[in-house]
Amino acid sequence: MVNKEKCKLTAARAAVEYIKDNQIVGIGSGSTIAHAIHCLGEKIQSTGIKIMAVPTSYQSAMLLTEYNIPITTLNEHPVLDIAIDGTDEVDPNFNLIKGGGAALTQEKIIDSAAKKLIIIADESKKVKFLGEKTALPIEVIPMALKTVTNKIKELTTEIKLRMAVKKLGPVVTDNGNFIIDARFSKIKDPESLEKELNVIPGVVENGLFVNMTDIVIIGQEDKVEILEKK
Ligand code: 5RP
Repeated sequence: MVNKEKCKLTAARAAVEYIKDNQIVGIGSGSTIAHAIHCLGEKIQSTGIKIMAVPTSYQSAMLLTEYNIPITTLNEHPVLDIAIDGTDEVDPNFNLIKGGGAALTQEKIIDSAAKKLIIIADESKKVKFLGEKTALPIEVIPMALKTVTNKIKELTTEIKLRMAVKKLGPVVTDNGNFIIDARFSKIKDPESLEKELNVIPGVVENGLFVNMTDIVIIGQEDKVEILEKK
């Protein structure tokens, strides 16, 4: 059996190689990114490079602090040199479904502010069509839950409000909103669906990341596959 954590670590280590002295770096969220923060901490310790990180969630902010990596904000540094993030699915055109950790909105803002976006993942995240394996997360303002749900029902009937674990009721995002997970088995035109969902009043953002990624690094146990956008 493949050791997934080892694959994630291999991808994370390769991505951190791209980070250079004096850069402002966007840092995604999730378990693969936790490995990247660990590797970045080690790199800073061993090379003495100075960087500042912009986290995409409380999770990544707390981990960055744990590794003594300085944090800044997008308002202080609206253009980032590079961002590293994980994904739930990646298609052959480098389009993504993100938001498994409910951090999609800040991730999309920060990833889109970067001159270069590197996505790190293990083999299991590769799909032919987005939606093949995971539902699409959609962040919704709580008072609009019902009206947004009704609109999304016109596109798919497989909709679930994401429920919290070890907390009663729904997941509440870092922005104070709810997450709807909507299943669209094969998303043939992610660019149109991304726009269609985002014009629904009450939708804050959705997990389709279209035409944003520059490099995808797929980690295997002992090597990486580095795919660059042509
Ligand atoms: C969080 C995300 C994560 O990047 C995505 O869920 C992948 O997480 P992991 O690396 O734990 O598989 O989009 O909102």
